[in-house]
Amino acid sequence: MPDTFTFNTSPSIQFGAGLLDDLATRAAPLGPWVLIVTDQGLMATGIVDRAISALTKAGIKTEVYADVIADPPEAIVHAAAQAAQGCTGILGLGGGSSLDVAKLAALLAKGHQMLPEIYGVGNARGPRLPLMLIPTTAGTGSEVTLISIVTTGASEKMGVVSPVLLPDIALLDPDLTLGLPAATTAATGIDAMVHAIEAYASTSPNNNPLSRMLAVQALTLMGAALERAVANDPTARADMLLGSMLAGQAFANSPVAAVHALAYPIGGHFKVPHGLSNALVLPHVLRFNAVTTPGPYAELAPHAFPHLKGLGPQEGAAAFAEALADLAARCGLPPKLRDLDIPEDALPMMARDTMNQTRLLVNNPREVAEADALAIYQAAW
Ligand SMILES: [Fe+2]
Repeated sequence: MPDTFTFNTSPSIQFGAGLLDDLATRAAPLGPWVLIVTDQGLMATGIVDRAISALTKAGIKTEVYADVIADPPEAIVHAAAQAAQGCTGILGLGGGSSLDVAKLAALLAKGHQMLPEIYGVGNARGPRLPLMLIPTTAGTGSEVTLISIVTTGASEKMGVVSPVLLPDIALLDPDLTLGLPAATTAATGIDAMVHAIEAYASTSPNNNPLSRMLAVQALTLMGAALERAVANDPTARADMLLGSMLAGQAFANSPVAAVHALAYPIGGHFKVPHGLSNALVLPHVLRFNAVTTPGPYAELAPHAFPHLKGLGPQEGAAAFAEALADLAARCGLPPKLRDLDIPEDALPMMARDTMNQTRLLVNNPREVAEADALAIYQAAW
């Protein structure tokens, strides 16, 4: 138990099927002129049109910035901030990338700070425009995290971490995740489970009882729901959206570690979606960590997978890694790096890149040397 900890989250979390239809009332704090930050994929679903018509009926003027792409580069952030000029509020609508860009646009549109000076922890100070975030995937939990990730250069990622990025309102409508493709549901769902697992086991000095409690509840929901959510069961969709939000709250305050550190080079170099990158290395990192620190994983195992009750630390952690790999496979995710045409001779370069993720590696229960990262990639290949 830490002597001191800080727990920040979004001040208003609004959850329920069909809430998008009540957007006009709920978005009132954004003021009379709202920029919607989203992507082209979501434009095609009609969800953005529903948001626009709800706001328009209430007399709220809307602009749309719909050019967000996965792993958004700095240019996209600048363009969204530019589009926000004159607006009174920002509505981020979409997956994690759209929400991350919306957070930064709300801050940069004010013109008090520039992007290069806000990278890192606590450098973004605001003020920012009023901000509402509506996720359409159950994965990143970005609607309750104080983090935005930006791609700088060809593949490097930088984070802006500051409580000022927490939105005023997180609105979660599980109906918006209905019909999300199976592969995206599976990958984003595993990402959310990794957030809970890494938050629970994090060696961050700010690991705290609230994060651990949230992680347990998140894994209880998502362990039971993921496979059914992939089959588009509405109740499971709701459990996944709730679980991913709880996991987001957990890791926003007890940050993630080596699974994410090893996932980033896969996504950066080979354009593999973030959740799938995590799924590919997850069991191997857990097996590596369990050599010195099996306890947290053995504790989590029966919450995510009730049949894993009553096992000792080593046995429980091993069974947990196995059950997670099985779950990802049953959800249709490819199990090996080679399945994604990642060449074996790229692994040393990826291991080198992993070592740059010091922000994440510092939270890992077992120290990761470059040779360890390489061995984990080889096991995952
Ligand atoms: Fe993640």
